[in-house]
Formats: sequence, C-alpha cells, structure tokens
Amino acid sequence: MSINLTPRLSAAASLVRGGGIIADIGTDHGYLPIYLLQVGKVTGAFAADIGKMPLQNAAKSIEHYGLTDKISLRLSDGLREFSETDAQEYIFAGMGGTLIAEKLAETPWVKNSNLHFVFQPQSRAEDLRKFLFENGFNINKEIATHEGRRVYIAFDATFSGEVKPFTTAECFMGKLPHTEDSHKHLSHQLSRLKEKYEAYTKIGKNDEAKELFETIQKIEGFING
Ligand SMILES: C[S@@+](CC[C@H](N)C(=O)[O-])C[C@H]1O[C@@H](n2cnc3c(N)ncnc32)[C@H](O)[C@@H]1O
Repeated sequence: MSINLTPRLSAAASLVRGGGIIADIGTDHGYLPIYLLQVGKVTGAFAADIGKMPLQNAAKSIEHYGLTDKISLRLSDGLREFSETDAQEYIFAGMGGTLIAEKLAETPWVKNSNLHFVFQPQSRAEDLRKFLFENGFNINKEIATHEGRRVYIAFDATFSGEVKPFTTAECFMGKLPHTEDSHKHLSHQLSRLKEKYEAYTKIGKNDEAKELFETIQKIEGFING
C-alpha cells in the first residue's frame, strides 16, 4: 500500500535530491520519510521528533508500511542528537520559521556545503530566510502550493559561505515564483506589513515606517510586475 502526500508535504518531498539518507526533523506521523522510501527516492531515513508521542505516531505508521528496517526513530530537540555524517539531507516541515532558524543557529555543523536542507516553514518564513542569508546559505528553489484556502511554501538551501547584502523584502520573497499561490502568500504578508506600517506611523517611529514602506513597495512591485 502506498502513501499519498498532501500538496504541502509533496512540495517538500519534491525538493529532496535523494539517493542517500534523509533526516526528517519534527516528523510527527512520519509520512515524509515513508513516502520518500516508498517511491525509492532515498535509501534510508531518520524520523526525529522532540516529543515521545509524535515518535510513537511515526513508529505506528512506519510499522504499518513495513519500513522498520529502513527508518530509524530518534528523540531529538532539533539537530541536537544528530551529527553531520548521519544524513545528507535534513528536512524541517510544519514547524515555524523562527524555530527552524533557532535550531539551525545552535548547530554549527550545518555550515557544510555537502549537506542539503529542505524547509517547509509553517509561519515566519522571513525569519528563516534572514538566518540563511546572514549565515552564507543559498536558497535554490521555492514552491508555493495550497490546501483548501491556505497557501504553503517550501524551499531548499545549501551552504556556500558567501554572505551577500540582502533586503527585508528579499526575506519575504526569497525565490518564490510568479504563481497565483505565491502572490496570494505575499498578499497575506503585505496585509501584516501594512498594519505594522500604520502602527509605526501612528507612534512616530518614522525610520522603521520608512523601511517598511520600501519593503511594501518592493513586494507590491513583485506581485504586480
Ligand atoms: C506540525 S508538526 C509537523 C509534522 C510533519 N513534519 C508535517 O509537516 O506534517 C510539528 C512537529 O514538530 C515537532 N517539534 C517541535 N519542536 C521541535 C524541536 N525543537 N525538535 C524536533 N521536533 C520538534 C513537534 O513535536 C511536532 O511533532
């Protein structure tokens, strides 16, 4: 029996390069490693989570699909119980962008150009992109997709060590393509930014308001461009 992924997890799975071992950090149900093994994209996987209950969920699914010999369970806060030689690709899906950035920041070995990272931040993707830009990672490809009315984004990154100047607008836009889902996602971010802009203007935080105005204009330019 094969597992079907929803568009959100399919987007993350499509960014996996494959051919080796992946570690799915914050796996919960374990669907991502199960799918990647079933389609033969990877040779082995770790299903990791900070919680014992999610790991039990993963264990049940993995057993159900007969993959106990290919997927190892690991109780781990972020990458704390991993080393850079455990896997070639590390996936973080369904966690907030701020938390993913924190987990990367506490793990010096992520700065290794041989490793590949796949992210599907559930919120605050701009915080994760900012961390990546500040720390010499390149974003390779971004995907926007939807489930019902909610848009989800996924992207992959590798470390190059080169830190280039970047703008706040780039932290919001990354390498999102010109698609309806991308534009919808960015329009949602714009509403948040515009509210913040109004608040800054009201309390006289003029420098912050000016920077936000420029960011808003750049994102609007992308959507309308
Ligand atoms: C919303 S679920 C996402 C499950 C799955 N990756 C997906 O995208 O459908 C988030 C999972 O991340 C786990 N998690 C939260 N903080 C974590 C951390 N610091 N380290 C590892 N896992 C964490 C939670 O226990 C939970 O199982």
